[in-house]
Amino acid sequence: MLISRLSKIGFRIVKELPRVGTCTSLNRGALIQRKCGQYLQPQNGLWGAEKVFQIAACQRHRYFSTTPSNNGLTQEGNQEKEMISVTFVDKEGEEKNIKVPVGTSMLEAAHENDIELEGACEGSLACSTCHVIVMDVEYYNKLDDPTDEENDMLDLAFGLTETSRLGCQIVARPELDGIRLAIPAATRNFAVDGYVPKPH
Ligand code: FES
Repeated sequence: MLISRLSKIGFRIVKELPRVGTCTSLNRGALIQRKCGQYLQPQNGLWGAEKVFQIAACQRHRYFSTTPSNNGLTQEGNQEKEMISVTFVDKEGEEKNIKVPVGTSMLEAAHENDIELEGACEGSLACSTCHVIVMDVEYYNKLDDPTDEENDMLDLAFGLTETSRLGCQIVARPELDGIRLAIPAATRNFAVDGYVPKPH
């Protein structure tokens, strides 16, 4: 009896809902679209009360949708997959090759992979402790020119070379695949809290 009533209510709600196609065209992430796709299949030609509730939820997705997020998720997905190969050479000359997602700075990548690159100011261009040396000029030339702020900090770096850069300012891009970065034997930190540590 109760089931029968719920089914009738469900049928009325379904009649008032827009066509099924509206739900499949929601500008939502792939996951929600898949869910919506599932919700839109009647079982044995009948819409039960539970199904109707799910369809209502599906409609809610549409009403609360703001910007098309499907593309965003796809792009995110692509970025997650797109990795470049980066080799860090430490003070002892030991090499460590890592995969770095496009869009990630070399400082972040180093920290995520337990590579000893300091980064005392955490990428705010207030130190030179993330100093790295791009080992191949070919790759150095692919980098964007350093800003004045980066140059100012590089001037304070220990062991500055022609291909020196700050690791926090090098961001992984596909054309940098294969880049090799040497970590200088010492760093200087003049800028953080006015403290001047001894080179180590
Ligand atoms: Fe300080 Fe890069 S971490 S400038």
